Amino acid sequence: MYRGILATIVVIGSLLVTASFAYIVNPGPVVNATVGGVWPRPKYLRSTDNYFLIDPKNFSILPVENTCDILDKAITRYIKIIQSTVHSPIYYPHVVHNGSGTNVTPAQILSSLKVNLTSPCEQKPHLKMDEWYFLSTSGTIISHSIWGVLRALETFSQLVTPYENQMLRVTETHIRDEPRFPHRGLLVDTSRHYISKDILFRILDGMAYNKLNVFHWHIVDDHSFPYVSKKFPELSAKGAFRPEMIYTQKDVADVIEYARIRGIRVIPEFDVPGHTRSWGVSHPEVLTQCEGSYQGLMGPMNPIKDVTYQFIDELFREVQEVFPDQYIHVGGDEVGFECWNSSTEIVDYMKKNNISSFSFLQKNFMEKVTRSVTALDNIPIVWQEAMVENVDMPPGTIVQVWTGDWRVLLFMFTKAGHRALMSECWYLDHLENGGDWKKYYNCEPLDFIGSEEQKKLILGGEACMWAEVVSDRNILQRIFPRSSAAAERLWSPQHTRNFVEAQQRLEEHVCRMNLRGIPAQPANGPGIC
Ligand SMILES: *[C@@H]1O[C@H](CO)[C@@H](O)[C@H](O)[C@H]1NC(C)=O
Ligand SMILES: *[C@@H]1O[C@H](CO)[C@@H](O)[C@H](O)[C@H]1NC(C)=O
Ligand SMILES: *[C@@H]1O[C@H](CO)[C@@H](O)[C@H](O)[C@H]1NC(C)=O
Ligand SMILES: *[C@@H]1O[C@H](CO)[C@@H](O)[C@H](O)[C@H]1NC(C)=O
Ligand SMILES: *[C@@H]1O[C@H](CO)[C@@H](O)[C@H](O)[C@H]1NC(C)=O
Ligand SMILES: *[C@@H]1O[C@H](CO)[C@@H](O)[C@H](O)[C@H]1NC(C)=O
Repeated sequence: MYRGILATIVVIGSLLVTASFAYIVNPGPVVNATVGGVWPRPKYLRSTDNYFLIDPKNFSILPVENTCDILDKAITRYIKIIQSTVHSPIYYPHVVHNGSGTNVTPAQILSSLKVNLTSPCEQKPHLKMDEWYFLSTSGTIISHSIWGVLRALETFSQLVTPYENQMLRVTETHIRDEPRFPHRGLLVDTSRHYISKDILFRILDGMAYNKLNVFHWHIVDDHSFPYVSKKFPELSAKGAFRPEMIYTQKDVADVIEYARIRGIRVIPEFDVPGHTRSWGVSHPEVLTQCEGSYQGLMGPMNPIKDVTYQFIDELFREVQEVFPDQYIHVGGDEVGFECWNSSTEIVDYMKKNNISSFSFLQKNFMEKVTRSVTALDNIPIVWQEAMVENVDMPPGTIVQVWTGDWRVLLFMFTKAGHRALMSECWYLDHLENGGDWKKYYNCEPLDFIGSEEQKKLILGGEACMWAEVVSDRNILQRIFPRSSAAAERLWSPQHTRNFVEAQQRLEEHVCRMNLRGIPAQPANGPGIC
């Protein structure tokens, strides 16, 4: 369809100009959207020719066993979403049946969806949460955990499409579903640009629509320190871009709560010892004062001073209280060794202590930091560099792979018995022309050589939204639907790889997200949404 048949090349002097391309195209979208297609694709789904009609003004979602605040709030949200579906631009062409010569049974009215939650609600989402559910659109959800119920409601809402006369329609469908990986994350960097709380909420909404379940909050970095610490308020007072570009304790609690009721964990990252320049505005004593040709600059944290470790320990004590998740990300990436190398006291210290390389010095640093995290009963996550020197990390430490040959790295880390997360192929700041979600969709985290035992150590992965060139004004468009590709890879069975089928569902999913207030960018080219 996109067959260029003529390319006229005009040569003007020495200038080569492509003057015109002519195409033969059909009118209409390049990819037709599905109607009621589910994203990410469920594990088992069976539909019939029958369908039910829903009167959006007379439809309820009813807990029939356990319930709790999380379920009550989800019901309120999803009733609104279902009602708003009457405005969806994606619907079946209305067929008038004349009563004979058709095997379609007259549509029944579905007036309620019964939610059978077989166990009491858990209060907070966690790595091992159970997200399994059964859904029949004839009116039943069964799940053994509140988290499965949330996923089921999302699926149900996606199956509902407009019908005539302000009614809705849902095809008779039976689904048994659960995710392939337990850790399906999105990293959001709020240091390179400040992202307001309202936009963070919308990102969390979008994550719920894609069944992503970990919000990795890369909350501070070199350029700004927006987190308002209780113990060290000077960090943000001096390190934020502007006095109002901060996250107060209430803001942080609001984000965690907004995520919790959507079954999304919030894992904070306080990256050390590199990426800490903004900490030094108020606490220069914890950074390295560079010398020589870097005189006057401050580098990574000073690894040879006790005060550095005391400071980190005190801050992490607070972070552990503020963020309820058991995991905390302590960074460990991209440490610039030039400044350490320029510092006389550091070089002397290394000589005295027989430390032969800077990466060994970094390894010692990360060992100390991860041990203090473990002492607080948390489990650390680190970037790959922290592990490369075969660091003796506390058991359970998770390593996140983001650069280099990920197949080799995943082999190496899992061989050493570490659990790992894939991010390398899901960098959302790496833009390409057109529907570049395809490259994210094709990435398969288990596609490395290793034993079954090694593959079990892959917990999932994270799409990463670094914020050098995104702000409140474009971050949602950049994240969605490009992260949706990673979301399906991490949720759906490994064999879900039919790209032609996927692009039709994604075409609809973009329309759906748009209707729900997420300005997701077009997925595939010319089309309705
Ligand atoms: C989309 O559907 C219409 C109507 O069925 C059809 O004419 C058109 O060829 C389809 N477009 C594509 C790209 O498949
Ligand atoms: C709502 O649906 C129920 C069950 O189908 C029906 O009995 C009732 O009359 C309906 N109410 C309205 C206002 O349509
Ligand atoms: C339905 O029946 C009417 C009258 O019997 C006829 O004119 C019309 O073409 C039929 N429509 C369809 C879709 O078969
Ligand atoms: C909920 O599901 C369980 C397990 O399938 C079943 O035993 C129970 O009767 C169901 N409850 C209701 C109210 O349907
Ligand atoms: C450290 O600095 C010296 C010069 O002062 C240089 O020769 C050496 O290559 C540097 N080492 C590293 C690892 O940067
Ligand atoms: C210093 O380290 C080297 C290699 O790591 C080792 O061979 C040597 O014995 C060490 N020397 C001392 C004094 O510890």
